[in-house]
Amino acid sequence: MSYRFRTDLKWSDATPKEAFFNRRQIMTGAAAMAAGTMIGGIPGATQAQAFGVPIEREANSLDDITSYNNYYEFGTGKGDPKENAGDLVTDPWVIQVGGMVDNPGNYSVADLTDGLDVHDRLYRFRCVEAWSMVVPWNGVQLGDILNKVGVQSGAKYVSFTTAVKPDVMPGVRFPVLDWPYREGLRLDEAMHPLTLLATGIYDEPLYNQNGAPIRLVVPWKYGFKSIKAIVTINLTDEEPDTSWNLANAREYGFYSNVNPQVDHPRWSQATERPIGGGLFAKRIETLMFNGYADEVASMYEGMDLSVDI
Ligand code: MTE
Repeated sequence: MSYRFRTDLKWSDATPKEAFFNRRQIMTGAAAMAAGTMIGGIPGATQAQAFGVPIEREANSLDDITSYNNYYEFGTGKGDPKENAGDLVTDPWVIQVGGMVDNPGNYSVADLTDGLDVHDRLYRFRCVEAWSMVVPWNGVQLGDILNKVGVQSGAKYVSFTTAVKPDVMPGVRFPVLDWPYREGLRLDEAMHPLTLLATGIYDEPLYNQNGAPIRLVVPWKYGFKSIKAIVTINLTDEEPDTSWNLANAREYGFYSNVNPQVDHPRWSQATERPIGGGLFAKRIETLMFNGYADEVASMYEGMDLSVDI
């Protein structure tokens, strides 16, 4: 599908050059290939044209992105995933693809992504807790993977689960959520070209705390939809259960589109706190669909977004 985003910025255009190079030595796809390195954790992958979004904000540093995390399998504190996720073995990794697909089976990350374009995407990331970051992801479009495994007619939703490994995931020993962590998307949302399965950040393989080896990224939805360390992908004709909806349906709906006009029952969603600007950083306005309304609003025409939260 040929798809244009509002502007196609490279990371280097959106980030002051000096800060950009201080943060990471970013290699171009060609240079990385020549040097025989991996792009976003995918060995030998071809790098597609770098896409971005119009963002007046700088990309967060790798340190911000890998130190302030939500990943309850490793604890509920923001620093717990970095501290505790190191023992999760992410290679080899098996992803079980099933349900209404032509080619069900167990796939490695390489099997699933082989031959697909790897995209650079600079996306806003807005947590339901009202903090936000800007993250330079590397990943493949979920739609490309779904086309590869063959979605059968009649399928309407995609569901995902995260690994549950009590030996290395201290958080799953407690019933904070009904494990495994589960998420789901409507099929059109899953096929949308903005929806990624990310395998890297800043051209490095994903750190464990960010959901290695492969995690979802849906930039117009609250961050909890972006499920980490995926081990199952299932195509269904019924809306799947999702972890936060099971935990508290009044507070967390299936759609969970970023919407500054619909407050969380316990706090306002009108503004957000950018991470990285210090404790007293100025809050900024939250944008409808997190700034991606031009690309995604048409999928929700006719729905009352204050009811279908
Ligand atoms: N996926 C799993 N498996 N477990 C989690 O606890 N937390 C979600 C989401 N994906 C979570 C998860 C939430 S609430 C957010 S905000 C994002 O991951 C955080 O992603 P980050 O740590 O890479 O910023």
